[in-house]
Amino acid sequence: MKDVDPTTLSADDWDELHFPRPEENDFDRVVESAISRRGFLSGVVAFGSGAAAMGAGLLTSTSAQAQSASRFAFTPIAAQTGGAVHVPEGYEWKMLMRWGDPLFADADGYDLTDGGPVEKSDRIFGENTDGMETFAFQGHELIAINHEYPNGKINLPASQEGVPASAGDVLKLQNLQGVTVMEITEGPEGWSVVKDSPFNRRIHHNTPMNIVGPAAGHDLLKTEADPTGTTSLGTMNNCGAGKTPWGTYLTCEENFNGYFGSSDENASYDQKVAEGFKRYGLRAESWNGYELFDPRFDTSKNPNEPHRLGWIVEIDPTQPDSTPVKHTGLGRFKHENAEVTLAADGRVVVYMGDDERGEYLYKFVSNGSYQPGGETESLLNDGTLYVAKFNDDMTGAWLPLTPEATGMEAADISIFTRMAASAAGGTTMDRPEWVASSPVAVEAYCCLTNNKNRGVKPNAGGDDTSANAPNPREANKYGQIVRWRPVNDDHAAEGFDWDLYVMAGNPTVHSDARAGSANVNEGNLFNSPDGMVIDSTGLIWIQTDGNDDNEEDFAGNGNNQMLVGDPVTGEIARFMTGPNGCEVTGLAWSSDLRTMFVGIQHPGSNWPDGGTPRSSVIAIKRADNGLVG
Ligand code: FEO
Ligand code: CA
Ligand code: CA
Repeated sequence: MKDVDPTTLSADDWDELHFPRPEENDFDRVVESAISRRGFLSGVVAFGSGAAAMGAGLLTSTSAQAQSASRFAFTPIAAQTGGAVHVPEGYEWKMLMRWGDPLFADADGYDLTDGGPVEKSDRIFGENTDGMETFAFQGHELIAINHEYPNGKINLPASQEGVPASAGDVLKLQNLQGVTVMEITEGPEGWSVVKDSPFNRRIHHNTPMNIVGPAAGHDLLKTEADPTGTTSLGTMNNCGAGKTPWGTYLTCEENFNGYFGSSDENASYDQKVAEGFKRYGLRAESWNGYELFDPRFDTSKNPNEPHRLGWIVEIDPTQPDSTPVKHTGLGRFKHENAEVTLAADGRVVVYMGDDERGEYLYKFVSNGSYQPGGETESLLNDGTLYVAKFNDDMTGAWLPLTPEATGMEAADISIFTRMAASAAGGTTMDRPEWVASSPVAVEAYCCLTNNKNRGVKPNAGGDDTSANAPNPREANKYGQIVRWRPVNDDHAAEGFDWDLYVMAGNPTVHSDARAGSANVNEGNLFNSPDGMVIDSTGLIWIQTDGNDDNEEDFAGNGNNQMLVGDPVTGEIARFMTGPNGCEVTGLAWSSDLRTMFVGIQHPGSNWPDGGTPRSSVIAIKRADNGLVG
């Protein structure tokens, strides 16, 4: 990473910068030069001159791609490098909410110049928007949306380097993160928040939560403040999201490790705790000094507190007084998002990525079936967690993480899911970000954003990360999207077929594997796919969190962006670009499908107002008010 501006880093990059993974062996070299000699494993992708051509085994039909007319209802836009948002001709965007905008009238005039008053910092829209979902409830339009991490320099401008100097500073940062639930409405001027709506709610780092599922009450979850191990405070580093068939919001705790530090560098821990700290990246120093002012985040005093993070949390956006629930049945790792779908027989299937280099892709299948109006808590806990294994012959298997398969007890599988996945023999992946399943076909996709360690060094558990079929490029700078179709058209099935929907790359710079797949061309260059949602028509919306310096390997990519892909032809077109420095993340539709809400996280320029950069949610519509999803 060069010329790092910490205010424009994604939380993923921030974690890597502050918590570099330990060297596990001496095979620490960049092997880019080897890629051109080596080619790909297993003939997944064959290469033509300057660009990769899809192999015969792919699920996509390349002849269909050549013959069909585009399904896209817009003219793709060019890459951009400036400080503005761009959308295609015939579309327009308007601001919905910015960090610091009031959710309640008592926070009107919240002044950002000194980061704002701490006593009002939980009455405003939070910082760094990420995953979101919309809910239509009794005539009300609601959005639940994540606030992933703080920008210390922006949120605490009076503090040295943005590091908290007081308990009040820590509290302010804690209040700016977590989740917002808010009611929105559309008027002649566009969409706006309904200030003081009874649905408006901030959930932050100190909001009481319940812990349920196989790890609830386990000794490793007990603390002095909660000797039962069944309640906790707060949800943090809320990255991607999900929505259940019963109308609740799932928020996913990702880089939770960064919030913890230790006042005693030499503190010793039980072996199991210490091994967990190593695998999950806990260190003596936190990102932002929480542990200096809030002993809950000091692992030498509270070694079990980190075990109470790294979960998926369910929130009922229609019940503002409800207590959020941490579902330990869905495993503990750096959760990206939670893509919920139903199996053929109504069992609940949740696909989940663990965003770390060389970690795994998971799914959960409930034992019970979803019944409208029926009991739902057990559906996210009573079931089987699986890790994905991708075979070179383009088949795959979901390996159950059971005591028999892993040699671990059920609660340990839940708390130390990464170790269970290693023991079961899953396939190490290039940083699984969002999973999206199609509403019109029985198939799912996962963004594998990039992985500079592929073929360079093992993951923190020592698992081999040599190039493999779905992660075929060593020192992978660009990322790819893997797709799978479950056997028997049933998401509960243990077998699947898979292919690569796209390998990002740059055919204007490279003529080897780094050129990318055949559906990447000069007109749609992008890198590091991250957010992904499939709309009601089956089109795949892809958001990026990558290198936007527009130079060398990334020449022609421009700023981070949102593209749309056709699942049948493989065609991909650029729909939107964000301001420089930003990541585009989070996408949801109004219930009439005439507006798409898109998140702009950590803008680097003075977007949107020419002053302090403010992470925001924008509303995109067609000028003719046509459908957009
Ligand atoms: Fe928060 Fe992996 O993105
Ligand atoms: Ca992400
Ligand atoms: Ca990312």
